[in-house]
Amino acid sequence: MTHQEIRHKFLDFFEKRGHKIVPSSSLLPDDPSVLFTTAGMQQFKPYYTGQADAMKDFGSLNTASIQKAMRTSDIDEVGDKSHLTFFEMLGNFSFGGYWKKEAIEYAYEFLTKELKLEIDYVSVFEGEKDIPADEESEKIWKSVAPGIEIKKMGREDNFWGPTGNEGPCGPTSEIFVNGVEVWNLVFNEYYCHPDGKLEKLKTSGVDTGMGLDRLSTVIQNKKNIFETDLLEPILKLAPLELEEKVKRVIADHSRAIAFLISDEVQPSNKEQGYILRRLMRRIITHNFIAKADLTLMHDIFAKIAEIYGQHYPNLNAGLIINIFDSEKEKFEKTLSHGLKELQKLDKIDAQSAFKLYESYGLPYEIIKELGEKKSEKLTREKFDEEFKKHQELSRAGAEKKFGGHGLLLDTGKLRAGNEQELKKATRLHTATHLLHTALRKILGNEVKQVGSDITAERLRFDFTFPRKLTNEEIKKVEDLVNEVIKKDLPVTKEEMPYEEALKTGALSFFKLKYPPKVNVYSVGDFSKELCGGPHVSHTGEIGKFSIKKEEAIGAGIRRIRAIVLEQ
Ligand code: SER
Repeated sequence: MTHQEIRHKFLDFFEKRGHKIVPSSSLLPDDPSVLFTTAGMQQFKPYYTGQADAMKDFGSLNTASIQKAMRTSDIDEVGDKSHLTFFEMLGNFSFGGYWKKEAIEYAYEFLTKELKLEIDYVSVFEGEKDIPADEESEKIWKSVAPGIEIKKMGREDNFWGPTGNEGPCGPTSEIFVNGVEVWNLVFNEYYCHPDGKLEKLKTSGVDTGMGLDRLSTVIQNKKNIFETDLLEPILKLAPLELEEKVKRVIADHSRAIAFLISDEVQPSNKEQGYILRRLMRRIITHNFIAKADLTLMHDIFAKIAEIYGQHYPNLNAGLIINIFDSEKEKFEKTLSHGLKELQKLDKIDAQSAFKLYESYGLPYEIIKELGEKKSEKLTREKFDEEFKKHQELSRAGAEKKFGGHGLLLDTGKLRAGNEQELKKATRLHTATHLLHTALRKILGNEVKQVGSDITAERLRFDFTFPRKLTNEEIKKVEDLVNEVIKKDLPVTKEEMPYEEALKTGALSFFKLKYPPKVNVYSVGDFSKELCGGPHVSHTGEIGKFSIKKEEAIGAGIRRIRAIVLEQ
């Protein structure tokens, strides 16, 4: 059975049983306490707590999804039989619709009848001090699958959550096939507070997650996760001379890179961008040492887009290749010096490792891998500590820049420190929407936003385009934006479900937020974009728009800087 067939079978099965199929949310969650989406339930957190109404948003209390997820906690294990950084999770969810009996029955029926798999054993929560054992699940398993082996496990293995520092949590029941844990059924009956206190939820909820890679491994009867039709075609393209473990790292990391970029992450030195950079640099270093063919990564990214394109149409191989190549170009300038420096050291501790990172950009994973015996004592925790010290220093610098009065607004693309700055940044924000549409009208739809950053002084807009813009084109874009400003068009906001928003043709290159609702901002009938705001109410408020600079920031990626002036 191919991964495509598994996907369809899963979604069909739950759709037939009254579940609303919900698209995957972005790898970048709304919850600021976590870097990445690590589980399918994350986008549904407000439905478990009653803050949002599933009936209203989905027309059902039950949903199912195939969710993209990223777990950096497993990065050191990548290369073994079953660990990955990026993966997809098949999940069914209920927010007060059904409870343990149905969840267990569905899982059993799907695995044994639909997929014809044989279950080795299941596990249930054995209880702990103040939390009772899950006897209910045990009883249900005994009646659903008489004679099945049931293992009882503690909090470490059979209790989920929360994601971030608080949220829904509860006992779990796990299902094992061919020695692999394939499905995790979570019964959210508590709310976990940041201090660890558990409070009973008003309505209990179900959250299940089944890794598509693991499930494919058992269905396709493979020995490890890298032999399935999801990863083998990628792994096969890695340089032959590399050892198996490194090939696996390349296959896993390139997939993560592709999906991060398609969710608008760019390599940088902080947060998600920093993770992306590390994944890229680890691959670049291995390829550099292996003297691998330059086009090899292009083939790998094209293959990833081919495997996943049907389900993730925003996977743009050209864009991924451009961003990867431009990181490679940057990094290779210092890489060979860095490697020489690494060879010279007799012993590598956290401080010298951080120096190698700071001066030559070598990521922790590479220092650990290539340092071999010399970096034996180096641990990720110690390296991260050094990194944090450095970050604190630079954060102190950033606060000074905003005059110590704190940030009034920092949406990641729009930053302001006081009311006046906020007004100016808001004008620049609406101007950014106009610029985006104007670029597409003048240059064509190959223009795609890949980044945006707005301060009170200027806007910065990054987009895909294969060549330098001519002066005439720049003038045309500028004129078109100013024309729209002059018309003093109204800017309106409409709240609607994500799917509906896409149907209206709204541009959605920024982080996708779904559910419960997305905002679509329209400027007259000139532009329509998914966005969190804020915006001016009429384009006339923007003032005169002026492009100051147009430059390349990577192969196939251009950057425009522009300002607005009072009229
Ligand atoms: N949240 C659980 C997990 O990620 C089940 O979906 O394993």
